[in-house]
Amino acid sequence: MTPPRRNVELKARDADPAATLERALALGASDEGVLTQRDTYYGRARGRLKLREQEGGREAGARLIAYVRSDEDEARTSAYRLAEVAEPAALREALDAALGTLVVVDKRRHLLLYENVRIHIDEVEGLGSFVELEGVAAADSDLAGEHELVARLREELALGDPVAVSYSDLLLDAPQALLAAADAVMRNAYAPYSHFPVGAALRTPSGAIHVGANVENAAYPQGQCAEASAIGALVAAGETQISAVAVVAEKLDICPPCGGCRQRLKEFAAPDTPVYLGRPGGPLETTSVGALLPLAFDEESLG
Ligand code: THU
Repeated sequence: MTPPRRNVELKARDADPAATLERALALGASDEGVLTQRDTYYGRARGRLKLREQEGGREAGARLIAYVRSDEDEARTSAYRLAEVAEPAALREALDAALGTLVVVDKRRHLLLYENVRIHIDEVEGLGSFVELEGVAAADSDLAGEHELVARLREELALGDPVAVSYSDLLLDAPQALLAAADAVMRNAYAPYSHFPVGAALRTPSGAIHVGANVENAAYPQGQCAEASAIGALVAAGETQISAVAVVAEKLDICPPCGGCRQRLKEFAAPDTPVYLGRPGGPLETTSVGALLPLAFDEESLG
């Protein structure tokens, strides 16, 4: 088997892509043109698995890319494997049938090259503008040179704070998809007594979304909140971790989870887990599980 290839990578948001392009060209980077890329990410993979379809540039075509990468703030290293794909549409359908599509990232990429560093000035659908630096490492490199060059270019191009996560993660954790799922399930709420339908959607680290609505009962205390229903679905699916939460109510723009549900969410979520309260495309308040339930009682409290 061929050894995986390695990169040193750094990504930052870019408020002024035209200025970045000018700076890169002034440094002597070569302009490799503008490409259109669609990356389709698949679920249930051990690392990350994406099918990249590209128009334009020297690498136009389709390839399957498997990689593992550590999410760190500063320049990250990643090891990846590439397989050229002759029939991307057929493979896309086969992988979707077998693994399920997690998320699709569409972008317009202006590619420049500076020594062995690829400079990407990216416009990502739904996310905005970014710059990425990719120091492509030779097989026998100890990566020190790549790290140094990436750090130097970061300075020269005046890049802002690094973004630690991938475009796919940024899209997956974006509130809109979760709010839309919560809004859809809210329509199935069984709330004949309160007439207060609520929907909840929970993202897990696998990328899956589990949903639930409130289920009331003529014996009022037997009623169940939307969040509790969604947690039931998540556990039934074999999962035990929540990475993002959304709650939507028909009659309230911002529906704060009840005290009991804050405790229920806390059982499966870290304090910094985002909680999106609002409506898809409408009002939005972003808080966190820790902010909703400070000084939480948890398994450590049991001693
Ligand atoms: N409800 C939820 O489903 N989640 C909350 O966090 C707040 C309240 C439901 C419970 C009940 O069916 C209705 O809203 C009115 O309290």
